[in-house]
Amino acid sequence: MELLKKKIQQEGKVLSETVLKVDSFINHQMDPVLMKEIGKEFARCFKEAGITKVLTIESSGIGPALMTALELEVPMVFARKRKSLTLTEGLITTKVYSFTKQETNDVTISSHFIEKGERILIIDDFLANGQAALGLIDIVKQAGAEPVGVGIVIEKSFQDGRQLILETGIQLESLARVASLADGTVTFVD
Ligand code: G4P
Repeated sequence: MELLKKKIQQEGKVLSETVLKVDSFINHQMDPVLMKEIGKEFARCFKEAGITKVLTIESSGIGPALMTALELEVPMVFARKRKSLTLTEGLITTKVYSFTKQETNDVTISSHFIEKGERILIIDDFLANGQAALGLIDIVKQAGAEPVGVGIVIEKSFQDGRQLILETGIQLESLARVASLADGTVTFVD
């Protein structure tokens, strides 16, 4: 997606060979015009897939997931990483290990909001080692629903996530694929 790649080139900051900072338009401040275009692009990629709901994980996945759900005219659910005061019954939980942060989080949804037989599109801001996306796939399967697609805003193609998702056989669409962050420069695949 050219608009997204341009934004990454203009505003992204390469913090190290593995970390790209995009907090001016995704991870802290959000760019609603860009998010709207991201939503349209994901909707275009998955429009024939019979999606009944979009699932993401708090917090930075919520922006792109909501815009995608708006375009597809389906609800959006975000999985929680922290315990909720009101979310106490009928929980579906999985453990997600973050290689970046070296910590494991319990990730939870209410079983009320993903039902048997639903066709779920998983959206997230980054694909690094794939653990968040695999965790969401596990939650969808526990609910008896089908994970039909994974949509990623920025994929770091030099890490393991892409391969792990492809091995599940689920359709993966990444809007910007970063081949390398070497020498302080963002290089895209292709
Ligand atoms: P994984 O799910 O693909 O295995 O990724 P990992 O555990 O390595 O990532 C943990 C967190 O760090 C996730 O956000 C992920 O989006 C983010 N992250 C990973 N690589 C980068 C990067 O190069 N740049 C930025 N900006 N973020 C990265 P999170 O902790 O869930 O944060 P948030 O969604 O609450 O903002």
